[in-house]
Amino acid sequence: IKKLKKFDDDFLWGASISAFQAEGASTKDGKGLSIQDVKKISEKYSDFSVAADFYNNYKEDIALLKEMGLSSFRFSISWTRIIPDGDGEINKKGIIFYHNLIDELKKNGIEPIVTIYHFDLPFSLQQKGGWSNRDMIVKAFLKYSKVLFNEYAKKVKYWLTINEQNVMIMIGSKMKFLNGGDKKFNQNELYNQSHNMFIAQALVMEEMHNNFPNCLIAPALNIVSIYPNSNKPQDYLAAMNASVMRNWYYLDAIVRGEYNPIMYKYLEDNNFLPDFRKGDYEILKKAKPDFIAFNYYTSATVKSEINNFIEVEELIDQQRLFDVPGMFSYCENPNLEKTEYGWDIDSTGFRVTMREMYERYRLPLMITENGLGHSEQLNENNTVDDDYRIQYYEKHLNELRKCISEGIKIISYNAWTAIDIVSSHQGFSKRYGFIYVDRTEKDLKEMKRYPKKSFYWYKEYIKKIKY
Ligand code: BG6
Repeated sequence: IKKLKKFDDDFLWGASISAFQAEGASTKDGKGLSIQDVKKISEKYSDFSVAADFYNNYKEDIALLKEMGLSSFRFSISWTRIIPDGDGEINKKGIIFYHNLIDELKKNGIEPIVTIYHFDLPFSLQQKGGWSNRDMIVKAFLKYSKVLFNEYAKKVKYWLTINEQNVMIMIGSKMKFLNGGDKKFNQNELYNQSHNMFIAQALVMEEMHNNFPNCLIAPALNIVSIYPNSNKPQDYLAAMNASVMRNWYYLDAIVRGEYNPIMYKYLEDNNFLPDFRKGDYEILKKAKPDFIAFNYYTSATVKSEINNFIEVEELIDQQRLFDVPGMFSYCENPNLEKTEYGWDIDSTGFRVTMREMYERYRLPLMITENGLGHSEQLNENNTVDDDYRIQYYEKHLNELRKCISEGIKIISYNAWTAIDIVSSHQGFSKRYGFIYVDRTEKDLKEMKRYPKKSFYWYKEYIKKIKY
């Protein structure tokens, strides 16, 4: 690329959090329990009951986000704060909390981007079968979404349906923390859950388009580029298989309203086909998102030969691909550096991912998560010199700018995370924020906020890139 283009003036520069990882106040003001509140957590990690205390601190936090120059903030709404048992009575105090949060953001010139569902299924719905109980969950998800739209659609333009459906389904048989709480599922159940998510999500998108035409809605999947381990044609095919299984099966159903044919054959051959009902294809076809939101942390590499090690039973990391016999096998990529937590750093892969998605679907893109987890402590100047994070962001934003220059429509970049929060399954010590929250796994201290070096870096970056 010889000449880089400028970002549009209305490009939204932001950062993200999710409700269960940031809010705390897990039983305050009438909130019901979610699967995240009741699951067993390893002794060495913090639970989610206090988290970053965003529920009580949001005003102070938003003031810092404003100081950083953010124009967007992506957060999720806690289903059980709005409807404590998932499908019954509405909790007025929960409704008011999100009105206040949204108003505070708008007052500070920050565009709210709302995720409807981010891993925190109401526990009482889980007890009724959760995402496996189609009639129950589709109805409950639609009801909950309608409550949100009726309350907040006048104030919120950008909506996200489900966070990382693909991660929940792909690793749901190997890792317990996402859509099952303490439960793992078999593949058959998972692909049924996935189908139920497609249907619920399609109905919610349709509801929005029919009744709230000024809003825009999208899924928020975790999409990554997948490389073949060599130039053997079979490895290229394995990479295509992995992309179908990890990325395109989901986006094809949500954007095109179609089951990807290669995935369909895989499901059929393995007896994993979900229970299709009459009218399902029409429901999927009718709904179409307005843009594609996605989370990107790392890329993956695969080969065709089967690994010699025994298939992992229990994954400790949701980003790591594994083996699917007959489709692909997992490989390390020796060309990439790793983060402290072992995730490959691949900014070129970020560009590959955006290009692949745009070429397939031609919808505007929004980055809803991208960032680096690291263990950190305040230094003697009450800050954290997180140069590794600055480097990570610099590289990824450089590739983003190349994509924009190549004509890919991108509307917003939201880094993960704004303030330090509890990692999805590795406690508070694994930090992602621009803002340090002073607590440890078990010692809550005063939870004071301290901008890290990356805070000032992002602030300058946003300021400079605008002009
Ligand atoms: C994504 C999730 O999978 O990755 C976030 O949407 C999560 O909720 C993020 O926090 C980083 O993963 P982790 O496990 O390091 O918190």
